[in-house]
Amino acid sequence: MIEVENLSKTYSGFRAVQGISFHVNKGEIVGFLGPNGAGKSTTMKVLAGYLPPTDGKISIAGFDVVNDSIEVRKRIGYMPENVPLYTDMRVNEFLRFRAELKKVGRRKIKERVETVKELCSLKDVENKIIGTLSKGYRQRVGLADAMVHDPDLLILDEPTIGLDPNQIRAVRDLIKDLGKHHTILLSTHILSEVELTCNRVLVINRGKIEASDTPANLTKLVRGGGSILLEVKAPATEITSRIEALTNVEDVEISPSADGDWTVAKVFSKPGVDVREEIYNVVRQNNWSLRELSRVKATLEEAFVELTQD
Ligand SMILES: Nc1ncnc2c1ncn2[C@@H]1O[C@H](COP(=O)(O)OP(=O)(O)O)[C@@H](O)[C@H]1O
Ligand SMILES: [Mg+2]
Repeated sequence: MIEVENLSKTYSGFRAVQGISFHVNKGEIVGFLGPNGAGKSTTMKVLAGYLPPTDGKISIAGFDVVNDSIEVRKRIGYMPENVPLYTDMRVNEFLRFRAELKKVGRRKIKERVETVKELCSLKDVENKIIGTLSKGYRQRVGLADAMVHDPDLLILDEPTIGLDPNQIRAVRDLIKDLGKHHTILLSTHILSEVELTCNRVLVINRGKIEASDTPANLTKLVRGGGSILLEVKAPATEITSRIEALTNVEDVEISPSADGDWTVAKVFSKPGVDVREEIYNVVRQNNWSLRELSRVKATLEEAFVELTQD
């Protein structure tokens, strides 16, 4: 659905996007992650035809973004990061206006506006002035706008930014639902959202793609996919030396427990090896008191930090 080859975007000499290549298949929900300033919005604007690329080739549904921009726009619903809404229009009015602008056929406008209001749960505010709506509703008006011409592909730039946890959940469920019939590329900083909604993640950092994989595979990249949490009563140096002596252990990180004499150790093993039994044997041999021995899976957040921190 999206093919990007060697895309670069330069702003007066500054290369915000540096020759990136990636693809998004039909039906995928792809999370586009990266620190602020990484180049996410720039890439999305170029994909949506709102900015010309400095270099590279982008095709959407087989159409070239530069040469067939009209065909491309018909197929893309783009929600920019700061949704520009006409704040003194009513929701109904605005969506009809946007549908006309996007050349939805006269006889289809009413039906399309009804459909997107239904999808984005906007029926109860359809006659309200946009400027009086809460942030959550405005965000949904932005989504409804992006979908009013029934595009196959949705490009959503931080659709949940500024929303409270309940609203985030509502928009997340909506995106998941939309993903049944649309291809979606969305940027966000909420990694739990990505784990729940996205089939694949693209990580961009300083204008370059750092990773493209499923959320599960990305977390496996992090230091063997996780760690063992151990909490014992013993001197820190002794814990470190005895546990690090195990051949399958690569690293031990020690910190005091919040409540006094216990010591917390985070143990990193060789990839794919479960060292809990070996650790337990060490604990027993040394007669340490034990109150925690558990496996902690790496999170997407840790993968993100590892991929994007220098
Ligand atoms: N219109 C612009 N003019 C100059 N620099 C820009 C412009 N837009 C973005 N940039 C710069 O390009 C880089 C990428 O920005 P952006 O694509 O907005 O990143 P992200 O969305 O990942 O936070 C940043 O360093 C930003 O300051
Ligand atoms: Mg951005």
